[in-house]
Order: sequence, then C-alpha cells, then structure tokens
Amino acid sequence: MNRETDFLVIGSGVAGLSYALRAAEHGRVTIVTKGEMQECNTNYAQGGICCVTYPPDTFEKHIHDTLVCGAGVCDPKAVELVVTHAPEAIKELVKQGVKFDKTSEGKYELAREGGHSESRILHHKDLTGAEIERALVSQVKRHPNIEVLEHHFAVDILTQHHLGKLVTKHTPDIKCFGAYVLDLKKSCVSKILAKVTVLATGGVGNIYHATTNPSVATGDGIAMVHRAKGVTENMEFIQFHPTALYNPGERPNFLISEAMRGFGAILKLRNGKEFMHKYHHMGSLAPRDVVARSIDNELKISGEDYVYLDITHRDPQDVINHFPNIYKKCLSIGIDITKEMIPVSPAAHYCCGGVKVDCNGLSSIDRLYVLGETSCTGLHGANRLASNSLIEAAVYASQAAKHSIPRLSEIKFERNIPDWDYEGTTNPEELVLIIQNYKEMQQIMSNYVGIVRSNLRLDRAFKRLEILYQETEEMYTTLTLSRDLCELRNMITVGYLIIKQARRMTQSVGLHYSLDYPMVQPSGEM
Ligand code: FAD
Ligand code: SIN
Repeated sequence: MNRETDFLVIGSGVAGLSYALRAAEHGRVTIVTKGEMQECNTNYAQGGICCVTYPPDTFEKHIHDTLVCGAGVCDPKAVELVVTHAPEAIKELVKQGVKFDKTSEGKYELAREGGHSESRILHHKDLTGAEIERALVSQVKRHPNIEVLEHHFAVDILTQHHLGKLVTKHTPDIKCFGAYVLDLKKSCVSKILAKVTVLATGGVGNIYHATTNPSVATGDGIAMVHRAKGVTENMEFIQFHPTALYNPGERPNFLISEAMRGFGAILKLRNGKEFMHKYHHMGSLAPRDVVARSIDNELKISGEDYVYLDITHRDPQDVINHFPNIYKKCLSIGIDITKEMIPVSPAAHYCCGGVKVDCNGLSSIDRLYVLGETSCTGLHGANRLASNSLIEAAVYASQAAKHSIPRLSEIKFERNIPDWDYEGTTNPEELVLIIQNYKEMQQIMSNYVGIVRSNLRLDRAFKRLEILYQETEEMYTTLTLSRDLCELRNMITVGYLIIKQARRMTQSVGLHYSLDYPMVQPSGEM
C-alpha cells in the first residue's frame, strides 16, 4: 500500500528509534525495518556507551583518545560535537527508560576499553545495547504518532531519477522524496512518500565470512545512497573486533566484549604466554586495529585458528556479575571462563566509513539524513574508539531532529513519482545462483580485503567482484524482487566501494593496512 508520511525512518536501531521519538513530537513518523524491530546491531552491543561523566575524566581527554585512535583521519569538529553533546544524549536515553549500572554509592559505574585513557563507559552489565533497544522500542510502541512497518525492506530511495530526470554524481540539487519498500510478507513493493527521509540501516558486517553483526547488517543504506549518486567516504576502514568467540559454524560470531580486557583479561598464546606488549605499550588494551593485526600476525606465525583471552585470575563471582551474558554463553559451549581461557579470533565488526554527512546528519542528497553506522560523520576517522558508536548515533539523531523538524512546513510531497514497475520480471528458478554469489563475495572480501591487504589482493578482489556485479545486476533486472537478491546486490556495491577507496590509498593508516606500504602509526608502535 502506498503511503505518505512526514518522516520516513528506515532502520530500528538506536539511531532510527532515537530520531523517530524526537520527530514524533512534531509530525507523523513511519518506521520501516526489514525484520522484527529489535533485530539490529544495537541489540548486540555489549561493552557500553562513552560519555565523560566524572573527574578526573575531561572532554579534552575523550577528544584526544578519539583523535589518536582515528590515526589523523577524524574530523575534529565531529569529535568535539559528539564528546561535548554526549552527556545530554545520555540524559535523553535515561529519560526514555534506559538503565545504566550504578555503584553502591549511586554513581554510574564506568568501564574502560582499548584506547581509552580513563574509565568512561556507561553500561548495563554486558548487555548495554539490548537495554537501550528495549527502552526505545517500548517508547516507540506506545507513541501515537509512530507507525512501525516490520518485515518491510527499503529497496531504493526516491529522487529526481524516478521522475525520469538525469541524475549524476555532479547533479548539484539531488533531493530525496521517500523510498520504494518491499513488503516481505506480501511480496509487493509500495511507494512511501516523505517530506524527510532518515536512513539508519546500520552496518555491513555480512560482506565478510566472520562477523559479529547479525544478518540484517548488509550495507543496504550505503548501497542505496551510492546508487542515488550520493557521497560516501572512508569505506576502506573496516574494523575487525579482535576477540570474537572462536566457535566454528556459529554466525554471527559471539562477541567477547573489550570491556573484559578493560576488566583485566589478557590475550595469550596457546602456551599461556602474553604477547601484546611486543606490539604496543598498552598491551591487551591497545587500540583495536593494533590488537586485531597483532592477533592476525600471531595466528599466521603459529598456524593456529585462535588465541586465548584469560580472565581466570579475577574473582569468579566478580567476573560473573560483570559479564553474565558472556559467562552463560561460554558455559553453553563447555567453557567456564572463571577457570578456563576463552578461544578468540578477529571478526568484521564495524564500518567506520559510510554516507558522508554534515554536523546535522544531512547527506549530500537534500531531505535525506543518514544516522548511526550507515553514516560517516568524521568521528571515527581511520579507526573507531571502542564504544564511541552508540553515542555518535544518539548525538546525531538529536542534531538531525533539530535541523529537519523546522523544515517540515516548507517541504511538499513529490506526488509525480510513479508506482513500482513489476514488468518483465519472473520468479527465480534456481536460488543457488544467488547463494553461490553470496558465498563467493564473502570469500573475496575475507581473503583479499580483510585485516591485511596488498595492491595485488585488492586488484584481484576488484576483478572478481566485477563478475559477481554483472551477474547480480542481470538477476536484479529479470527476477522478482526478494530480500536475498537485494541484499546481495547491496553487499556487492559496498564491497566495491571498500575496494575502490582502498585502492586509492598510498599508505597504511588505521584499519587500512597494506603490505605494500609501511605503517605510519601516530603512537609510533607496530
Ligand atoms: P542498527 O542498530 O544495526 O540498526 C539498523 C536497522 O536497520 C536494523 O533494524 C535493520 O533491520 C534495519 N535495516 C537495514 N537495512 C534495511 C533495509 N534495507 N530496509 C529496512 N530496514 C533495514 N558500539 C558501541 O558504541 N558500544 C558497544 O558496546 C558496542 N558493542 C557492539 C557489539 C556487537 C556484537 C556489535 C555487532 C556492535 C557493537 N557496537 C557497539 C556497534 C554498535 O552496536 C552499532 O554501531 C550501532 O548499534 C549501530 O546502530 P544503528 O542504529 O546505526 O544500526
Ligand atoms: C565491545 O563490547 O567490545 C564492543 C564495543 C564496541 O564495539 O564499541
């Protein structure tokens, strides 16, 4: 069914829901999400959310840590914006019902993670994301101005291209009028016209074989904006989390939070020897890019599939109190983390780049705001500081709301957009064609465009992906739309953007590490 709405929000993680709740005070909001509302990266976040809360921490220290971690690529204005607006964003989350852990004196209990010079991470046990999502979903469900369309897949955003006009990367005034959305239960595509459209479709982890991201993270928003000729940037900086639980066959890979290293856990080899001090003075708590590369290097030397994380020296009850979810999960596969070391290996975790936005979350396409992991605000630079993403999403949701709401009265619906054209498509006879391309895409990205790259690997990946691109585009024009086909198409586009931007690099920086260029690390290590 076609619809008109003031605010179309695509995605139901922390970014989309935070924006929706603000916008709903001023107009009608439609949230479109491709699964159940809580199926999103947000729901899996463990460690917590950064915010300068008590002395001796200061904004200056948080800004400094973020800039150092970002390896000279951060936009200092975005860093300052997020760090200084974080306390207000936390207050808003608390107002929406989020409960962060407190000490017996009633102060927030602050955790520490890699690259942080102070303890500044608010959390809810090791289930912070689930707690945030719970609170926001419950507010959204009871808001009279918000309509939620679950199992609805946004296929493409609407621009002048859909009015038959030529739109290129150089068109100066591209505008967004809403989106075509596939109802996954009824298999029909509707047109949702909106005055303001917000893309908050999360990450891209599934383009890699091993990932901490749930299956919804397929880079749809980034691909949609690229097709609509919008600007993306920093796509080469894909963050691998160093410590995903090594449990072959499980997908997504279960995360062992970095907060556990903040709590004293130490990375060790099979023989029980600590190795991180060889690579960085912060040892197991070095920035994530350094830890992931160091583990990758040790695994190449030993030929093993995993290293170990050891927390057995801490008081067992303290470990269980702080990490009940991790304790339970590991126990379910026969590992008692209070007595045994945990086998871990790196997994694709976070996309530092995305759709380029300004300080209001506005993309290069007018009336299109992009928030959360889909966006590139400039905060993360070449490597995201742990727990800086949930707060980025919350702060930019507020910025975008403040900027977009006053514009509502001056924007009209674009009613000349045609309905979706079903002509000339047939049902797929062999799903294996889609599935095989999906597996090949993951192999190409994992083997050639992972933690360690080279010019040769990137060239190979580019050529191989080109073949998959052609085949998939052909399927897209001839087959009836399905979620699998759309996601495959989007992931190939995202892979292409990562490789294209990585091939332009003439140095190793942050998360882009190439064997062809020596590492220039601001800390002077590794
Ligand atoms: P998401 O929460 O991923 O939401 C995206 C939404 O978009 C989903 O609802 C999805 O279904 C929907 N969607 C996607 N495509 C479409 C489409 N085509 N049509 C309709 N809907 C669509 N960050 C921290 O700061 N601290 C942490 O402790 C932390 N821990 C993490 C642990 C794990 C295991 C993971 C995976 C990530 C972690 N992160 C953490 C990162 C953080 O969770 C994410 O960056 C953040 O939650 C992203 O929020 P979002 O709203 O942008 O996207
Ligand atoms: C973690 O808990 O280790 C994840 C933190 C993050 O990705 O920011």
